[in-house]
Amino acid sequence: MSKIKFHLGEEIPLELHKVRVVQKLHLVPIERRFEAIKEAGFNTFRLSTKDVYLDMLTDSGTNAMSDKQIAAMFQADDAYAGSQSFARLYSAVQDVLGKKFLLPVHQGRAAENIICRAFMKKGNVIPMNYHFTTFLAHVLENGGKIEELLCDHALDFSSDHQFKGNIDINKLEECIQRNGVENIPFIRMEASTNLIGGQPFSISNMMDVRRVADKYGIMLVLDASLLGENAYLVKQREEQWKENTMGDIIKMMVGLADLVYFSARKLTSSRGGGICTNRKDLYQKMEALVPLFEGFLTYGGISVREIEAMAVGMYETLDEDMICQSPMFIKYLVESMASHGIPVVTPPGVLGAHVNAMDFCSHIPQNQYPAGALAAAFYLVSGIRGMERGTISSVRDENGEEILADVELLRLAVPRRVFTLSQVKYVVDRITWLYENRNMIGGLKFVYEPPVLRFFMGGLEATDDWPERLMAKFRKDFGDSL
Ligand code: F0G
Repeated sequence: MSKIKFHLGEEIPLELHKVRVVQKLHLVPIERRFEAIKEAGFNTFRLSTKDVYLDMLTDSGTNAMSDKQIAAMFQADDAYAGSQSFARLYSAVQDVLGKKFLLPVHQGRAAENIICRAFMKKGNVIPMNYHFTTFLAHVLENGGKIEELLCDHALDFSSDHQFKGNIDINKLEECIQRNGVENIPFIRMEASTNLIGGQPFSISNMMDVRRVADKYGIMLVLDASLLGENAYLVKQREEQWKENTMGDIIKMMVGLADLVYFSARKLTSSRGGGICTNRKDLYQKMEALVPLFEGFLTYGGISVREIEAMAVGMYETLDEDMICQSPMFIKYLVESMASHGIPVVTPPGVLGAHVNAMDFCSHIPQNQYPAGALAAAFYLVSGIRGMERGTISSVRDENGEEILADVELLRLAVPRRVFTLSQVKYVVDRITWLYENRNMIGGLKFVYEPPVLRFFMGGLEATDDWPERLMAKFRKDFGDSL
């Protein structure tokens, strides 16, 4: 795909698929959007899709399925035990990931629950490149804590370092020695590190991590939810792997880990999740937990139709023409926003484009949630729903004090093969207008704060009447436009 050259010079992300089923969208007027975001407690998770034009909340469960996935769903074998749908998924996992044992689970966080329960004890420490919200919640539930060991440049958003998801090997050694091997049940590496802007790790870094894991006899766990995209960026950016296939790269990464888990909502454009390994001892430690929390071992709480879609989707992760679509659109979106001066995470990663709210809203103190405020303001002026990835998504410490997040990002997810280029251009148009009027955005405060994963259902309100003023400015500049 990257081999296509354009006569007019502008490099555009060219779709290698055609649209055959469509869903009508609604762009409701700003007055309705104002009511909707107030009703949603200024939390984009709580908006109804009837009020959303472009749903850029997440790629989870929203990637477009292929015709082959939909077709496969019709051959689903409804059986509580021994379903042929599971047999097909099992073959796909063996072929693509090269792992002998597979435990199906209903989604990624269910895998995290089982892994943490099976391998963690109270007081344990889990070293990792960076946390994901649900994984952190499970570690805390099990009485442990995490250490994030990214290289120093990883949170410098303007740095063009190609592998910001790498673990700093010196920090890893130091972490193990300081905490003691006996307190570290496993090291976790997350493919395409979600919360720092969908940034990949390199294979050479994973090899180094493996060497350290072997030296101390510690297990290496890979979160493979965004594995295809990490593999694609390895092929683009890591010299030694340029000539290899996606399959080679995926097998290499998966082969370096003792245990691999994934959210199929992301990895295979379906629903569900899984845990796989070649080690029988690890499999046996987790096996009993699947019927307890998920369902029988041949469906794991996933509908058999989705299992069929997962099996086909597993093979499709090997297709560079499919995997490249979302990263190419993200690159276009990031570069277009940057060209209008908007502070964005670079280099462009995967999953979505990430706007740096700390810079965009530098006038909003972090305890008034600049990324949450930006997400709400952007929805108001565009009908586009992004996701806050900042302090609202963080937690409080044992004294109830806010732990301010390392980053304040507005994530604009670009699910696979869902949006068109004109829609992406609309995103750029509206965010540029908002950037020019950024001083009008104000802060937020909690009015309802759930104790766990508060960002999902938490309710907030504006610190003053800034949303009303922003709406009035929109009307002044755009007239009666939607
Ligand atoms: N790991 C990673 C890297 C993820 O991005 C996610 C989900 C999970 C685990 C949990 O999987 O949702 O199937 O339970 N990420 C979604 C997102 C929610 O929007 O980024 P799940």
